[in-house]
Amino acid sequence: MQDFLQQLPKVELHLHIEGTLEPELMFKLASRNGITLPYATVDEVRDAYRFDDLPGFLALYFQGMDVLRTSQDFHDLAMTYFMRAHEEGVVHLDMHFDPQAHLQRGVTLEAVMQGLLSARQEAEQSLDLTVGVIMAFLRDRPADEALAVLEQASPFWSQLDAVGLDSAENGNPPGEFASVFSRAAELGLARVAHAGEEGPADYIIEALDMLGVERVDHGVRCLEDETLVKRLSDEQTVLTVCPLSNVSLGVVKELGDHPLPAMLDAGLNVTISSDDPAYFGGGMLANHQACFEAFGWDEATFYQLTRNAIEAGFMSRDRRADLL
Ligand code: HPA
Ligand code: ZN
Repeated sequence: MQDFLQQLPKVELHLHIEGTLEPELMFKLASRNGITLPYATVDEVRDAYRFDDLPGFLALYFQGMDVLRTSQDFHDLAMTYFMRAHEEGVVHLDMHFDPQAHLQRGVTLEAVMQGLLSARQEAEQSLDLTVGVIMAFLRDRPADEALAVLEQASPFWSQLDAVGLDSAENGNPPGEFASVFSRAAELGLARVAHAGEEGPADYIIEALDMLGVERVDHGVRCLEDETLVKRLSDEQTVLTVCPLSNVSLGVVKELGDHPLPAMLDAGLNVTISSDDPAYFGGGMLANHQACFEAFGWDEATFYQLTRNAIEAGFMSRDRRADLL
C-alpha cells in the first residue's frame, strides 16, 4: 500500500503555502533577512509547535511567517514545497495564500505575488506539477479590508483562480464577506471558504448560500445537520478534508474518531489534503498513509478520492483530461 500511495498521482486542493514553512527554511530566511528568531535551534521550533485548537495554531502560524519579506522568500517557500509535493507524487495543487497577513507587516502585494507566481511558473515548467492560486481573506479582519485587497490585486486578477476565506472561524460567520465574494464572482474568480472546521454546520450553509462557494474547505461538521448532508451529497459539493490537521487542532481526538468514513458512507464528495504540512505532521503522503492505517481503505477508495480532487482542481481542461 505504501508504494501504491506514493505512486498514486495525488491532487491537493487545500494547502496554505505559509503553512509549508518548515523550521529549517525559517532559520535560513531569518538569517538572510537579519531577523533574530525567539528560538536557538530547529528542534526548539518544533518543540514550540504546541497547540490544541485553531486559535493556538494560528498564533504560531502568523508568527512563523514573519521571516517572509522579499519576493525571493516567497519564491523559495513555494518552490521548496512544490519540490516536496512532487517527490510525494502530487501532480496538482491549489495553494491558498494570505495577503493581509503580509500587507499588515509592510510586505507589498507585489513581493508576495511575484514570488509565488514565479515559483508556480518554475514548477509548471520543471516538474510535472500544476498549481492553482487562491487568494484567501482573513475572516477575523474586516470585510472592507478584504475588499480593498481584492481591488488592489487588480494587476494579478488574471493569474488568480479563486478567492478563499480562512483564519479564526468561531464568531466570524461567512456571511459577513458576501460583498467580497460577489465582487470576486463578478471578476470571474471561483470561490471557496473554510467552514465547519471549528465552526458549526450553519456556517457551511452560509458559505453556500451567501458566498456561492463551489468547494467547502474542511466541512467536517456538516454531519451535525442531516438536511445539509443531503444537500451536499445531492449537489456533490467538494469537501477538502484534512485528516492530520483535524487531529492536530483537536477537531477530532484521534484519526480513528474522524468522520471521514461516515462522510463517504453518506455519499459526500470528499477529497484529502494536508492544510499546513509543516505544522500538522506531514504532507499528502503522510495524510494518505494515516488514512490507510486508521480506516483500512482499499485502492479503489483512494482512486475515488483522487478522482474527486482532479475533477474539482483549478486546472486547465487539457490538464484535467491528462490526469483523469
Ligand atoms: N483553518 C483556518 N485558517 C487557516 C488554517 C486552517 O486550518 N490554516 C491556515 N489558516
Ligand atoms: Zn485550511
